[in-house]
Amino acid sequence: MGLLGLSNFWGWQLERARRLADAAGIARADVFQYHHTYLRMRTDIAGPRFGQDGEFGTADGSILSYLRAEPGTTLVGYSPLLNGTYVRDDRRLDEAYDHPGTTHRLEALASVADETGATRNQVVLAWMLGGELPVVPLVGVSSLPQLEEALAAVDLELTDDQRRRLDAAH
Ligand SMILES: NC(=O)c1ccc[n+]([C@@H]2O[C@H](COP(=O)([O-])OP(=O)(O)OC[C@H]3O[C@@H](n4cnc5c(N)ncnc54)[C@H](OP(=O)(O)O)[C@@H]3O)[C@@H](O)[C@H]2O)c1
Repeated sequence: MGLLGLSNFWGWQLERARRLADAAGIARADVFQYHHTYLRMRTDIAGPRFGQDGEFGTADGSILSYLRAEPGTTLVGYSPLLNGTYVRDDRRLDEAYDHPGTTHRLEALASVADETGATRNQVVLAWMLGGELPVVPLVGVSSLPQLEEALAAVDLELTDDQRRRLDAAH
């Protein structure tokens, strides 16, 4: 049996779609695919699709709190490695990450990566997988070493203190 999923809808649209499915007695979506990574994205920047409502597609507070409130739902986080930006100087962060919280989160990430001996990518993936609200990372790779690095993150266990420091940085 398959699972029904939705991607990149506003939080209220998820709720409406699921309630309409319940009322109609048909399968509802339980898997949601949104951009999710360790850095937090501004959502207030006007975009081509929704103008002054801002852009969406990132798992912001309305999506994360919805998942917490709805047992049986799963978040799949796409572009978790920000196209390699965490580890490569030739990649630039999108303007939506241009805010003070990014500096603090990158500092926390570097600190935990140094302590664990893992790469920043691996810490990001371990943080997503092992959080209080687990998120399935939808990683992109273009080589075997990239794939192996990502898969090794499954075995990386962050301590409570490391997770607390990562969560607290904003
Ligand atoms: N639902 C949606 O709207 C939506 C939107 C975007 C993406 N997605 C899906 O999400 C999946 C992943 O997206 P994404 O490619 O943006 O994910 P990502 O994991 O953020 O970026 C993947 C890229 O990061 C680089 N990378 C990965 N591992 C690396 C490493 N160890 N060292 C250095 N660079 C590394 C590679 O770039 P290079 O190949 O250049 O080396 C790789 O192609 C795709 O299947 C895509 O279809 C869905």
